[in-house]
Amino acid sequence: MSVLVLPHATSLVAVAGSLKSIFVLLIVGLLSYAVVQKLNSNKVERLFAEKYGAVRLASVNTDFFGIRRILSLIRSLRAHKLMEHMVDDFRKYGNTFGTTALGRHNPWTIDPENIKAMLATKFNDFGLGTRPDAFHPLLGEGIFTWTTKDGRIRVPCCGRSLVSDVAKLDPHVRNLMSCLPQSQTESCDIQELFYRMTLDSATDLLFGESVASLQLTPKSGDKNAGDIKVVASDAGKQGFAYAFNYSQEVLAFRAPCNFREATAIVHKFVDYYVNNALDTYCDGAAKIEAVAGRDTTAGLLSWTFYLLARHTQVLQKLRDEIVEVFGRGPNPPGTQQINFETLKSATYLRYVMNEVLRLYPSVPQNNRYAVRDTVLPVGGGPDGKSPILIRKREKVTYSVYVMQRREDFFGEDADEFRPERWAEGKLWTWEFLPFNGGPRICLGKQYALTEAGYTIVRLLQEFDTLETTESPETDAFPLKRRTLTMSNATGVHVRLYKK
Ligand code: HEM
Repeated sequence: MSVLVLPHATSLVAVAGSLKSIFVLLIVGLLSYAVVQKLNSNKVERLFAEKYGAVRLASVNTDFFGIRRILSLIRSLRAHKLMEHMVDDFRKYGNTFGTTALGRHNPWTIDPENIKAMLATKFNDFGLGTRPDAFHPLLGEGIFTWTTKDGRIRVPCCGRSLVSDVAKLDPHVRNLMSCLPQSQTESCDIQELFYRMTLDSATDLLFGESVASLQLTPKSGDKNAGDIKVVASDAGKQGFAYAFNYSQEVLAFRAPCNFREATAIVHKFVDYYVNNALDTYCDGAAKIEAVAGRDTTAGLLSWTFYLLARHTQVLQKLRDEIVEVFGRGPNPPGTQQINFETLKSATYLRYVMNEVLRLYPSVPQNNRYAVRDTVLPVGGGPDGKSPILIRKREKVTYSVYVMQRREDFFGEDADEFRPERWAEGKLWTWEFLPFNGGPRICLGKQYALTEAGYTIVRLLQEFDTLETTESPETDAFPLKRRTLTMSNATGVHVRLYKK
């Protein structure tokens, strides 16, 4: 017996010995790596301090791996209060601060100088990081774009003629109006209708055929609403609308279940219509990637009606301007046609849209990744005025939502909806950034402002009364849903009618 056991025990001891050696080697290796990294890091920090006076941002959170902060951000996101969380953070820690999350250093900023550096003056030092990979299954290389054979990104709807061609928008606005209850007792969620309308107009423009989601029965109340297979197989177009919304939610919350199926439906639809679009817009040029410009415009429209329904004086002033410039009802005689040029002459309408985009920017938070060691101009040192060192691969997050509510830029009433501030002669450049800036500025800006302006004018020409049907509690604090963009989490419930 002992003859059998002894060699076995010996080999176990030998194995244990070599495991111990491997473990020791591993620890030594890791420690050496950490020491080399630290030395290298110190060297880079010294170099950047000497050359640019740049310092490292300290982390405001010291908890283990930043888990507490991550959990509290997730809680705020789920409660639709992420924006308020960010406002509190910047109030507590200043305009630029650093955090640690899972061992990574992350700078956050609402300083226009830093944002301008990332988006324009130091554009080549920053990239989109892993975002293109994460979004690629659904959106390809971007939103609402196609890539030509020579690799350039084109947006079909942003050509001058299409921007000014509001005739294409009109049927969708009419469809929206026909969905409104138009009575003094019934209300509707106008946000839901705006999301459908902008999807309809975007697909019409891009694919040459609309998904006509406004004309299809809403599915949200159906018993099968949560089942992607059932809903998507129901009707091609409705399936596309549902799957497109669903895919974007998954991208925002990183919940992978059913994502593949939803993106497959989106692509099936796009593949079907892509030939029409190619015939319509580009002679043999490459491939249409996707449609996402619509959520941003729907967001602008929804928050506009949310705010107008609560600010009757602004509503009255805006309606007076619209009636004076464009008249009442559809195509009133003797007044101007609504088009790209004439919309520009409606000054107060422009102020209103600016003010909505200031308080509720469709893309409230964004980020860039450093592609090399680099410097941002401000935020470091005890007074926050020194340049800061950003190491390669670090993610810098900037909050347009918080920046556009800064009292030092917009005054003590920065949180108030007051379109008149745009008439006071102040010029905001990098402080007001709803469409981003620099080489990657939104390519659909003019189209979006035309579509939103046209829709607002048509609705206010038609209806003289707009009322909120929310309870005062919901009103005091609108919950903001963050997917890729920002919408009202409880919808925008209003009554629109003619007196
Ligand atoms: C109110 C409406 C809109 C807002 C607030 C808005 C905002 C933005 C923002 C902030 C970005 C920068 C994203 C980033 O680089 O991280 C962007 C990019 C872009 N937007 Fe818009 N957008 C709107 C409507 C549209 C529409 C309707 C279209 C299409 C017709 C469109 C097409 C694009 C394209 C193609 C880009 C990518 C540009 C590039 O990366 O080179 N946008 N938009």
